[in-house]
Amino acid sequence: MNQMIIANWKMNLSFETSILLCENIIKQQFSRSLIIAASTPYIAYLQKIYKDLNFCAQDVSLQNDFGSYTSENCAKSFKSCSVNWAIIGHADRRVIYKETNEIVGRKVQNCLDQDMIPIVCIGEHLEIRQKNQHKDFLVKQLDEILSHTRITNNKKIIIAYEPIWAIGRKINPNISEIQEILDILGNLDYKLELVYGGSVTSQNSKDILSIPNLTGLLVGSASLNINELLKILNS
Ligand code: PGA
Repeated sequence: MNQMIIANWKMNLSFETSILLCENIIKQQFSRSLIIAASTPYIAYLQKIYKDLNFCAQDVSLQNDFGSYTSENCAKSFKSCSVNWAIIGHADRRVIYKETNEIVGRKVQNCLDQDMIPIVCIGEHLEIRQKNQHKDFLVKQLDEILSHTRITNNKKIIIAYEPIWAIGRKINPNISEIQEILDILGNLDYKLELVYGGSVTSQNSKDILSIPNLTGLLVGSASLNINELLKILNS
């Protein structure tokens, strides 16, 4: 399996810096596939110019079609720019913008309707982990999300396990704790792939990628630095 690295640039970069990073990336060789979640204002341009790179939306609208929805960007808009991936329900969206599992599920369905691949983020807060309730929490979170979709096994959905306590914190769950989440997904009725995200760096990427059946990594701050990103892509 060619594991994927999803670079989540969030709202961190200017247009010029995003172009510079892409220019740098296309000159390099790396062994894993790369998907870049660039800022929405730049993504159509970047996908058109850098046809050999894959870009990913950071969110899609709840609205499922073109229409009079000022400031919204529907899955169909991204698809029309040849953007085939979307991160849905990132912790930033859930924590800051209060997105619920229902909203996340409906957005996942909007992606599936456009044959886009949703990368659906799930993850528990620290107090849930400390009470050892994270497994039940994650199963419930996934069930609620998927209940708002018409998921079938011929549609690809990637689940990103991003424990909220590990995002941007320089701490990670250990390998067996990530493996435990893979086992949970394996017991569901649906075929889901898993990526891990939360304080991934070039120091820990190799160990995490060694987990059998892990599809890849979702990388935030380390993906903004070209040297770090390349080390992760080649780890
Ligand atoms: P981080 O972010 O790698 O900086 O922890 C991950 C994310 O928010 O997706």
